[in-house]
Amino acid sequence: AHTPVVDILKGQHDEGATVTVKGWVRTRRDSKAGLSFIALHDGSCFDPIQVIALNSLENYQQVQKLTTGCSIAVTGTVKASEGKGQALEIDAAEIDITGWVENPDTYPMAAKRHSVEFLREHAHLRARTNVIGAVTRIRNCLSQAIHRFFHERGYFWISTPIVTASDCEGAGEMFRVSTLDMLNLPKDDKGQVDFSQDFFGKEAFLTVSGQLNVETFACAMSKVYTFGPTFRAENSNTSRHLAEFWMIEPEVAFADLSDIAQLAEEMLKYVFKAVLEERADDMAFFAQRINKEAISRLEKVIGQDFVRMDYTDAIDILQKSGKKFEFPVAWGVDLSSEHERYLAEEHVGAPIIMQNYPKDIKAFYMRINDDNKTVAAMDVLAPGIGEIIGGSQREERLDVFDRRLEEMGLDKEDYSWYRDLRRYGTVPHSGFGLGFERLVAYVTGMQNVRDVIPFPRAPGSASY
Ligand code: 4AD
Ligand code: MG
Repeated sequence: AHTPVVDILKGQHDEGATVTVKGWVRTRRDSKAGLSFIALHDGSCFDPIQVIALNSLENYQQVQKLTTGCSIAVTGTVKASEGKGQALEIDAAEIDITGWVENPDTYPMAAKRHSVEFLREHAHLRARTNVIGAVTRIRNCLSQAIHRFFHERGYFWISTPIVTASDCEGAGEMFRVSTLDMLNLPKDDKGQVDFSQDFFGKEAFLTVSGQLNVETFACAMSKVYTFGPTFRAENSNTSRHLAEFWMIEPEVAFADLSDIAQLAEEMLKYVFKAVLEERADDMAFFAQRINKEAISRLEKVIGQDFVRMDYTDAIDILQKSGKKFEFPVAWGVDLSSEHERYLAEEHVGAPIIMQNYPKDIKAFYMRINDDNKTVAAMDVLAPGIGEIIGGSQREERLDVFDRRLEEMGLDKEDYSWYRDLRRYGTVPHSGFGLGFERLVAYVTGMQNVRDVIPFPRAPGSASY
């Protein structure tokens, strides 16, 4: 068995112990004194381990040909490092060369700084870099912390379907799932496409949100959440939109808007704390290389109450800001990312919970407030990225819900199962969706969500 680099660097093996480590060469440097220093990484932590290879090694000539990206297995003894920067290193007794890099001059992941755009074009190799390795460990840490947060509070994780017949957000941004021959679509008597001949017997899509499905479980299991992939066919070529992204959606029975806002605040603080405690190594890297406030801003956010603000007050603040926005501000408009960022970055300087949006810019399921103009919605807006969470209290009153459907020109028949929840033991309930990639981008300071998911899907790009 071999030892992960992280175990050695954490001091789990005494000096003098014999270990075997396996991984990839990041750099090799030869000294005049007849020895070589190899930085070996295996992904288990941010730092590589230094391997000292003496010219007495039987295959030293080969070792001197090692280049960035070669895979090796090293057996040797753990010893205190004389060099500065790290405490422990390995004196190699044996180095097995597992895989060479053919033609090192053209190896794409040469040990130097690459642009994120370049790395995106090499998504199959980019996990070998410092930056993507660090993002990957943070992403893992955040998703484990999210599951732990809900588990500790008695929530059940519900697997909601990826293939669906409903458009949760009503925005018509769905990818169709079909086995039909698109060039020869079957037509009915009226000349419409006849989806009854399709695989599912009707039109089917990739889900944009697990919310409607998870609501049915909240109205039985009380506290539930989904965590899965969601899909949006919105043609947004921005640094915060993906066509395939992951979403965390808690849904709680007998909870109102303020309960769910509180849950969002507690969850975010919990996961921020987890990354600071568990991934200090990677966070130090992000603070040094990507955003110098990466650590300090999380520490600050953990220690203070989130500001809650009404949409109506936000419009006022934006109008009085004296700023020239690309999208003009008026009551009733949806907040654009520049508005959100102004409020979170310049006005408050921390995440904001924005509440009570106009009903006309929000989805059909949100609960109408007494003013009959706004809905019990809440978004969490974060500096640097804008909206990371969207949520609401759901309309649980059947008569009000039916009126809303009619107002929006939606067909009652299509929502019969959703209406059943309002007919049989209806309860106030609320939930939200946290965009996982936006969370990872906020935590790391990475500028583009395409660099925080292993294989990004965006308009015009679905390689691999
Ligand atoms: O605000 P959204 O559209 O809300 C919903 O889908 C609700 N059904 C959630 C719920 O109440 N259960 O999306 C929720 C979050 C956004 O705040 C954003 O963080 C993220 O999902 N998101 C995206 N992330 C990356 N790429 C996209 N195209 C995204 N669209 C939304
Ligand atoms: Mg939203």
